[in-house]
Amino acid sequence: MSRIALALTINGQRHDVLTEAHRTLLDVLRADLGLTGTKENCLEGECGVCTVLLDGMAVDSCLLLAAQCQGREIVTIEGVSSRGGDDVLARAFIDCGAVQCGYCIPGMIISATAFLDEHPSPSEAEVREALAGNLCRCTGYQKIVDAVLAAGRTSGTETRGDAR
Ligand code: FES
Ligand code: FES
Repeated sequence: MSRIALALTINGQRHDVLTEAHRTLLDVLRADLGLTGTKENCLEGECGVCTVLLDGMAVDSCLLLAAQCQGREIVTIEGVSSRGGDDVLARAFIDCGAVQCGYCIPGMIISATAFLDEHPSPSEAEVREALAGNLCRCTGYQKIVDAVLAAGRTSGTETRGDAR
């Protein structure tokens, strides 16, 4: 099978990848680049565990061909958690007890990151709507929603503090 050469920008770094045209971004992230923080489950766009940021938007990487991502900015959970000092969401998830088995959490944090970037002071209903595409079998969602609300409040406080 013929291969195509791709230059992908992931977490701010360029990766040159030789791959088959049918492979998804999720395949390349996990199998070729070892970025296994992005999880895999349904492969049908139903569960959200494979969520990454593509040009700042939360998308299901199991539904995207890697070839569609050339020239775009991809951020995975590894990139979110290594953004200097920007671990407010991760801390909030821990503080709120929002993590049980943990399998859904990378996708939740990616979706919440994109959402809070656009909605820094959301309501609970807005958080629930924003996370509707991310399924969790363990937590019942309330603690996850609490964590995102807490992260929004903390980010707002830090931003206002930085501005002083
Ligand atoms: S693995 Fe992509 S949405 Fe479920
Ligand atoms: S914490 Fe287990 S699936 Fe969400």
